[in-house]
Amino acid sequence: MKCKKIILSSLLMLTGCSQAQTITKTDTEPTLELSQSRVQVAVNKSFNYQSFIKTASDKEDGDMVSKVEYTDIETSKSGSYQVDYSLKDSDHHEVRKSLKVDVVKMDDKGIYNPLDVTPDTIENPDDITALVNKINQIPKGWVPNDLEPVLDNKSQKLRKEANVAYTKFYNDAKAKGINIYSISGYRTNDTQTLYWNNQVKVRGEQYASMYSAYPGRSEHQLGLAIDISYTTTGNRLNETVATSPLGKFIISDAYKYGFIIRYPKDKIAITNYAYEPWHMRYVGVELATKLNESGITLEEYYNQ
Ligand code: DAL
Ligand code: ZN
Repeated sequence: MKCKKIILSSLLMLTGCSQAQTITKTDTEPTLELSQSRVQVAVNKSFNYQSFIKTASDKEDGDMVSKVEYTDIETSKSGSYQVDYSLKDSDHHEVRKSLKVDVVKMDDKGIYNPLDVTPDTIENPDDITALVNKINQIPKGWVPNDLEPVLDNKSQKLRKEANVAYTKFYNDAKAKGINIYSISGYRTNDTQTLYWNNQVKVRGEQYASMYSAYPGRSEHQLGLAIDISYTTTGNRLNETVATSPLGKFIISDAYKYGFIIRYPKDKIAITNYAYEPWHMRYVGVELATKLNESGITLEEYYNQ
């Protein structure tokens, strides 16, 4: 009797026809990774499905980006949709991934109204690196338990670790002749509600969407953000802070203390807020240094 060869994956086995066959299976599932799990797109804008594929490959089949299949969504109507991606290798192993897509109205800078999206609720509000933004809210009722008043303005608070860093930053700035005035640190949900409602009343929802977070979605509620100003700017929070000695010190040195400029000028469509050179967010020295070196925002860091 003739013997036949069975090649399975990289294993070669000779089997005798009258003997029991032992087949060891070493095929692996293909890999399919998306660069994001959720994305916002403007109404009527074409959606580039492939741009969200980070990896599509298989041990046996190699690169498989062109083999990824995906379901279609309608961008002519605002709403939340899901795109299902699937990838099948030549051994018929299949993997699936999904991407949540919010189709929203956007202004010319890419900013959308927080009321047009339903946020997810974060599970790590205690974490100094927590991501809070228009689509990620703080759990209802959560409040930080280690708030302390900041040294230059007893009515403003930060969480302990952020406050230790802020105190150093403040004192080192002072030694350079830069007198910081802290304007707004921790905010309760009620305070954030007042801010949002007031902005909407005075400037309208579109403006409020640029500068004010909807209640529950502000980093100030984490106790890790502080808005600071400088005397020559009249202690105002406006873009002149950026070119003041304080603004320059924030740009050059804040990361060494664990703070980042959370809403940079060139990342408006990513953070979905206007440039806020006065808003410092504490994330710890390690992450702040990483973000400073790579020039990426917290959103981009989590979507890598
Ligand atoms: N100004 C920032 C976005 C806030 O309100 O948290
Ligand atoms: Zn702020």
